[in-house]
Amino acid sequence: MEYLAYGKTGLEISRLCFGAGRIRNTCDTLEAGSKLMLKALDEGVTFWDTAEGYGTQPHLGEAVRQIDREEVVIQTKTGAKDYEGAKASIARSLQELQTDYLDVLLLHGISTPEDLVSREGALDAFREAKATGKIRVIGCSTHTYTGPVMDAVIDHPELEVILATANKEGRMLEGGPLDKHLEYLQRAYDIGKGISIMKVVVAGDIPEADMPEWIEWGFNLETAHAINLGMTDYRHITLDVGLARASARRRLIQRKAA
Ligand SMILES: NC(=O)c1ccc[n+]([C@@H]2O[C@H](COP(=O)([O-])OP(=O)(O)OC[C@H]3O[C@@H](n4cnc5c(N)ncnc54)[C@H](OP(=O)(O)O)[C@@H]3O)[C@@H](O)[C@H]2O)c1
Repeated sequence: MEYLAYGKTGLEISRLCFGAGRIRNTCDTLEAGSKLMLKALDEGVTFWDTAEGYGTQPHLGEAVRQIDREEVVIQTKTGAKDYEGAKASIARSLQELQTDYLDVLLLHGISTPEDLVSREGALDAFREAKATGKIRVIGCSTHTYTGPVMDAVIDHPELEVILATANKEGRMLEGGPLDKHLEYLQRAYDIGKGISIMKVVVAGDIPEADMPEWIEWGFNLETAHAINLGMTDYRHITLDVGLARASARRRLIQRKAA
């Protein structure tokens, strides 16, 4: 597994990120969910992504309870727009994740520059929580959107992390073509933002046999610090960890040769 700096955030993450948004599909209980997360951790996946809206924070919390908190980097999200809503959401995330700090908190699913402006109240709550040590890093996800929203979030100095859609064919991307979107990611990467990519396997909407090729495309994207894959079972962990390790070996050889 490759571990790397998450842009200039000061966090170190595993390049394979466990996108835990879908684990309720296969894990009926908190115990089953926590076991899946801990299996991934055993395989070296130290970066975990969730959100208040997924209903999976309690599953991660059950896992966090059983380990040393510093072993994992937890990224979560809130869709709250105003100060009071975000404040309550932060308190809920801390409680559900059984922790006293969030490594990364994202504004969830910013779709337009106007949408970003409308979250200013939420950002006030983020700033307050950061000042008191409840949050380490602030960022946003842009869901499936590109175009002007990317300019807005890249230019925002307080957003240190961007979670964006990216896959081999630009599937699900709304608002602009893939080549232009990849230029946005390059720009964000170059100024030190932490970059995570999602929808790498189009939310599962590609043939099973093609999964490795699409996942490898993600690992080959130099501007992605983290490849967020929505794993839901042990089979996925085995395949994705194997591909992450193979990519880590290739990148090491390339760096040595350079
Ligand atoms: N706006 C946002 O911030 C936002 C939105 C969406 C997702 N996310 C994050 O991104 C994560 C990934 O979600 P996504 O929507 O981007 O989905 P994805 O990773 O593109 O696809 C995940 C789905 O692909 C299928 N799959 C088949 N083989 C797989 C493999 N080897 N590894 C992983 N998945 C495999 C599974 O569906 P089947 O079980 O049906 O086969 C799985 O549920 C989420 O868990 C969440 O953490 C964030």
